[in-house]
Amino acid sequence: MATEIICTQDGVIDLWIGRPGHVPFDGSQYVLSLSTNEVRRAGRFRPEALATQWVAHRIALRQILSAYTGVSPENIEFDTTCRLCGDSQHGKPRVVQGAKLSFSAAHCGGALLVGISADSEIGVDLEAVRPHMEPLARQICTEPELTRLTGEPDVDRALIRLWVQKEALVKGCGLGLAKPMSEVYVGVSPGPRTATTRMSGSSWWVREYQFGPSLYGAVASALPTWDVRMLMMERALGPRSFRHAVTAFPPIIF
Ligand SMILES: CC(C)(COP(=O)(O)OP(=O)(O)OC[C@H]1O[C@@H](n2cnc3c(N)ncnc32)[C@H](O)[C@@H]1OP(=O)(O)O)[C@@H](O)C(=O)NCCC(=O)NCCS
Ligand SMILES: [Zn+2]
Repeated sequence: MATEIICTQDGVIDLWIGRPGHVPFDGSQYVLSLSTNEVRRAGRFRPEALATQWVAHRIALRQILSAYTGVSPENIEFDTTCRLCGDSQHGKPRVVQGAKLSFSAAHCGGALLVGISADSEIGVDLEAVRPHMEPLARQICTEPELTRLTGEPDVDRALIRLWVQKEALVKGCGLGLAKPMSEVYVGVSPGPRTATTRMSGSSWWVREYQFGPSLYGAVASALPTWDVRMLMMERALGPRSFRHAVTAFPPIIF
């Protein structure tokens, strides 16, 4: 067993953001940390660049989870049983060896966002602003959100900001996109927001974060207040360099 090197703190959500790059299937020693199912899944991505990107993301995820659990990356086991319907494949992933951890991951192009919490169920999402989103507004928004949108100077941006918050929420409670986004209300107040909504009989709190000029992320938490420790992933992969990265980037608390 590897030594645990990152401690979670109650009331703090660790947010890992980075661009892990690409790792080819053949010949890379890091691919050995993937399970047979993961290698099979990666093989189905087309074009190949998407496969090598997903492989890099999964290796980075395993390394992050290893750093919290002390279990070596290749021995991390995921349980994807759906707690809503019992299906073994489409549930919110959990780490078998990290009973206390809630984690959530989101990909957007080459970027990967991973949230980790020890004391709250969480969900994260990450999306880039895309053009011509307006026709989707009715599928995404509640009526009050639609009304508010009409006053927005940049509707595409406003919609993506709503979308990440809603998707973080449905990922937090494990529903995924089975829940129509127009049934999830997160509000549309201007500026940084902390939104509350009710789903599955419990309250969720959602906050958004901007990671680049057009890149938005969100965290949904089952607890109302939290601090974020923002951590950067290093481009180079591998346990040694990754551990170095963990200590090399001082956490930013905000
Ligand atoms: C979960 C979901 C919203 C992810 O959306 P996406 O835009 O394709 O992808 P993202 O990059 O945002 O997130 C992907 C990550 O979400 C996580 N995830 C997968 N299923 C999840 C679920 N049910 N709940 C929360 N998170 C989930 C995984 O970590 C996944 O990473 P991976 O693809 O590398 O394994 C989408 O895949 C979905 O709705 N799945 C179906 C869920 C379902 O069947 N629900 C029925 C409940 S009965
Ligand atoms: Zn299900």
